[in-house]
Parts: sequence; structure tokens; C-alpha cells
Amino acid sequence: MNILFAASEAFPFIKTGGLGDVAHSLPIALNELGEDVRLVLPAYRDVLASVDSLKELGFWDLPGIGVTHRVRVLQAHQDELGDFLYLIDVPSLFDRPGNPYVHSGGFNWPDNAERFTVFSRAVAQLSKGIPGTDWVPDVVHSHDWQTGLVSAFISMSYPRPKTVFTIHNMAYDGHFSYADFTSLGLPPEWWSSDHVEFYGGFSMLKAGMVFSDQVTTVSPTYAREICTPEYGYRFEGVLQSLGDKLSGILNGIDLETWNPETDSHLVQNYGISDAKKKKQWAAGKLANKQALLKDVALPYEGLAEGKAPLLGFIGRLVEQKGVDLVTSMLPELFSTTDAMVVILGSGHMSYEAELLSLAAQYPSRLHVHIGYSEDLAHQIEAGCDLFLMPSRFEPCGLNQMYSLRYGTPPVVNFTGGLADTVTDASDMALQEKTASGFVFHDVNADALLSAVMRGLEIYRQPERWKQLCETAMQQDLGWELSAKKYQELYNK
Ligand code: ADP
Ligand code: GLC
Repeated sequence: MNILFAASEAFPFIKTGGLGDVAHSLPIALNELGEDVRLVLPAYRDVLASVDSLKELGFWDLPGIGVTHRVRVLQAHQDELGDFLYLIDVPSLFDRPGNPYVHSGGFNWPDNAERFTVFSRAVAQLSKGIPGTDWVPDVVHSHDWQTGLVSAFISMSYPRPKTVFTIHNMAYDGHFSYADFTSLGLPPEWWSSDHVEFYGGFSMLKAGMVFSDQVTTVSPTYAREICTPEYGYRFEGVLQSLGDKLSGILNGIDLETWNPETDSHLVQNYGISDAKKKKQWAAGKLANKQALLKDVALPYEGLAEGKAPLLGFIGRLVEQKGVDLVTSMLPELFSTTDAMVVILGSGHMSYEAELLSLAAQYPSRLHVHIGYSEDLAHQIEAGCDLFLMPSRFEPCGLNQMYSLRYGTPPVVNFTGGLADTVTDASDMALQEKTASGFVFHDVNADALLSAVMRGLEIYRQPERWKQLCETAMQQDLGWELSAKKYQELYNK
């Protein structure tokens, strides 16, 4: 089947979070199953700088706000995707440095409505066939609000491909004003509560939901949660009305990029894929812990026995991720245990400032790195003993899966994909060798702390700890099963 993926970010070209990982790894997994998946992205400056062999395939003149844009479609080369990466090039909209959605001051680009409407219009043009080739998609699969209008524009053509829309996060809905709606020249009949109108404005996320043939989200639990007011961000009614058009398919991870046996970011590789490695993985992990502690200038002398536990956190510093639960529990954690903590992330200035001030208060216990670092992210997954992911909600979450694979049991809130991927280390689960982490149920710092304490208790029992880590490392986290579910959906 010919499948065109449309996304606003994809690893390794440009990534702000898990969407970038999925837009990279799911097409590869589907191609391995025999599908023909091609990916289209906006031609941001960073993307243009990271691809080879750009070739112009064609252009269209498409409406923006008060101007008509010359929109070029470029073919680019990248090793894993071959020549099947397409870029929508509109320099006035996308040739900008840095983050794809916000400028250096941290605020949304003021023309985001126009940027992603023009991108979506261009993808709808591509859905009729890639210029200069005979390739026509059977399915167009778009992701998150930035591509919400893709299915809407496609719905105006006949014949047309089928459309799938995946929601990665309900918290970001691409909400714009009526003035934007009219100045973008969108069809007036779309201004209704059955279409894109949403509480007096218009929502690109809603457009994706109502105009697509199928709607998915990234875990079965999140698919149920978003049909309730607690997680639905006022879209619960729309989502309920989709009935069985809505389904949840768990994300997988890229088993090559995130493989402790081959990961080039690590000082020593380790794993459990054969009996010999199984005897040595803990020593490999300890080497990474020592290297990490040294790099971030936390005490590592005398750690040969790996005694003081090291906890890690990686993520966007936003309310979703429960950063405040972490900052609230740290003083007590430090006063009652010998644990150390490494945090990597960037986001809201208030969280960044609070974390930095805690790091200044506890210099020998806490290291905070504000910023984005692929290198450090891999080293934290490998070098820590426990991974903290106390998200308030988590559509799927990839970091907890990376930590499972790296033998770093995650401590998670029971929500979304965290609930679907982590099995709590209850006595029974430990006995049955199904336990892979620590799960708590109340979203507060005490609940997080007591889950961490349960973790530290087992950490002090080497045999049980080893079993827990090995169960985590053995978990099937790849894409194969989920990619087959997408295949079934496309076939349907
Ligand atoms: P979300 O998409 O909500 O941010 P996920 O867990 O699905 O959460 O994916 C986050 C991805 O972004 C992971 O690949 C993670 O390693 C990466 N990431 C997040 N923040 C950083 C950072 N500061 N530095 C490096 N990688 C990061
Ligand atoms: C979103 C979600 C995250 C999910 C990712 C990829 O950013 O917050 O939970 O893993 O998308 O689907």
C-alpha cells in the first residue's frame, strides 16, 4: 500500500519530543512489513541543512493570509528513507532557525495558523500524486494539530485517498480565532460545531478528528481517557461521537537507536541478548553510571559497588510531566536517603529556575542540565538506576520505554501509555517475574516519593533488583506488533 505520512517534525532532522521519534520509526517499521511509506515535512532551516541531494519536483501557488505563496515540493535523500522524504518549501514560513513551533523568546510563532494551513494544503496537493512520479498514496496519515487540516482539504477532492489522523497529545489543539479562519480562506461551511468551530474559535485538532476516516491515539488507555472530561480538554463529546472510528495503538520504539548493546553514546555497551552478556550487563551499566556521575560532577569516588542510587529524569519541563512533583519530593528524598538525581530538560522558565535553585542548594546530590542533548539523554537512560516519569497524563511516553530497555526501572503514574507499558513491582509481580517498574496512583509528591522509596528498597536487594531489571530489558517494545495494527487499520 502507498502511504503518505505528514508530520511537523521527525528525528533525526528536527525533534522536540516523541512525535519526532514516531514520525521517524513508524514509517521504517511499516516499510519493513512491505508497505511503501513516504514522509513529508515542512522545509525548516534545520531540515534543509541535514539532508542531501535536494531536487525540486514541482510547485503550486497556494493561498496564505493576504498573499499567495509559491510552494515548492522538494525531494530529499536520507539513508533510512532513501529518496522518499519530501519537503514543503516556503521560505517565508519555514526557513527559520530553531524550534519549529516557538521562537527564541519561547512564544508561538505568530503566523503558526498560516504556516500549518499552507503545509496542510500542500500535503492535500501531494495526496493527488507526487509531482514528476507515478506514486499516488492510498492512505494519507497525518499527525497532531499541525496537520489537522490535511484530511479536511483532502475531503474536498474526488477520488481521494483514505485518511488517518493520529492524536499524540490532546493538550495542544492548534486553537485559532474566527479572524484567522476567515483570513485563511477556509470554506465558510466548515464554521460549524460539526466541523472545525470550537468554543468560539477554530481548532485544527478538531478538524483532524472530524474529517478523517480513522482517528487513532498512541495508547489504548489514552484512547479511553480522552473520552472523559478529565483528559478530553473539552473534546470528549467529539471523541465519544467518533465511536469505533477512534482507536488506541501503542507506540513502539526504535530498537536500533535505543539499544544499550550498540549505543555509541555510551562508554560501555551492555545487554542481555545472550548468556555471556547476561552475566556482565550490571558491570556495563555501572561503568555508565560512573561515567555519567563524573561528567555531571556528582561524587563518584567509591562507587565501585554502585551503592548510592542514581535517579534520572528527561523531558519537556511542562505541567504534563509532573516536574513539580519531582521538585516537591527532592528535599525529603535527599534528607532521608543517599540518592542522587540527574535531570535533563527544558521548558517553562519557572520550572527551570526552581530546578536550578535546588541544584545550587544540593550540589553533591542533584545535577540539572537545562537544554536539549541527545547524548546526555542516552547516557541518563543507561547510567541511572531508576527513571522518574510522574506525568499527570501521558498519551504514550517513550522515555519510560527507553528506560525499560536500558535496565533502568521507571517510576510512573498510572495513566495513558505509562499504565500500558509498566508493570508495578508488587510482591506477586516480582514473584511471577512480570514486574518492570514502580507505579503510583495519586498525582502528588507523597505518592511519587513512596513509589521511589519502594524502588530504593528493592534496589538494596541485589537478586530481586537484578530480576526486575532483566524483566524490564526483555520487554517487547519494538514496533512490529503495533505497526501490524496500523496495517490492519489501513487495510480496513
Ligand atoms: P513527549 O513527546 O511528551 O515530550 P515522550 O516520552 O514521548 O514525551 O518523548 C520525548 C522524547 O524527547 C524522547 O525521545 C526524549 O528522550 C526526548 N527529549 C525530551 N526532552 C529532551 C531533552 N531535554 N534532551 C534530549 N532529549 C529530550
Ligand atoms: C506526545 C505525547 C507522548 C507520546 C508522543 C509520541 O508528545 O506527549 O506521550 O509518546 O507524543 O506519540
